Amino acid sequence: MEVVAISGSPRPKGNTATLIEALLEGAREGGAKTTRFDPAQMRIEDCTAGDECLVSPEAGCRIADDMQQIYDGLRRAQAWVFGSPVYHAHVTGTLKRVIDRTYAFYTTEGGEWRLGLEGRRCGAVIVVQADSEEETPRRVAEYLEQILRAYNVDPLGCVAASNLAEPGDAAARPDLLDRARELGRELAGEAAALR
Ligand SMILES: Cc1cc2nc3c(=O)[nH]c(=O)nc-3n(C[C@H](O)[C@H](O)[C@H](O)COP(=O)(O)O)c2cc1C
Repeated sequence: MEVVAISGSPRPKGNTATLIEALLEGAREGGAKTTRFDPAQMRIEDCTAGDECLVSPEAGCRIADDMQQIYDGLRRAQAWVFGSPVYHAHVTGTLKRVIDRTYAFYTTEGGEWRLGLEGRRCGAVIVVQADSEEETPRRVAEYLEQILRAYNVDPLGCVAASNLAEPGDAAARPDLLDRARELGRELAGEAAALR
């Protein structure tokens, strides 16, 4: 049983990463293997809309870059976690680039648009921002949950947090760390039941 997390932050030890790590710690307590990808530290190109990936569920994306590791991880995992800081009221371009490339999980084989991924999954979302207002991170978390659902991933919950500006701020928020750890435990329990 595996939980795969993708962090959209360019800071490997920033607030998104801190809360993702707390969540993954909870998931490991619940018996899951965990993997975190930091696409900002990887070579990931933009989707080129070549559409060759849609030909069959096995076709895959032809761009030979580090996204291939993320495809493998997402296919393997029973649980997906998407995390991002708010950048200009949305997810980072880094995470959006990865999301765009997950288009390759779809197929139009047989003339009908469908998901080429097997099985059901569960998921969770982490969103952080510097500002004190609370609506934006919630809205961005809802957007990420919408993307998860599009891949047959059932979102179990989110941590959508404000007032986190400096990279160490989340580490000083036991309430958020506890919530993330608890979400990780829940995710592991649900993922085990899905296997
Ligand atoms: C390019 C850029 C855009 C940002 N846009 C926003 C924003 O729209 N609203 C906000 O509250 N914080 C914004 N921030 C601040 C980050 O969301 C905040 O510092 C967050 O904690 C960073 O998370 P990280 O440590 O995981 O990278 C922005 C930061 C950067 C670098």
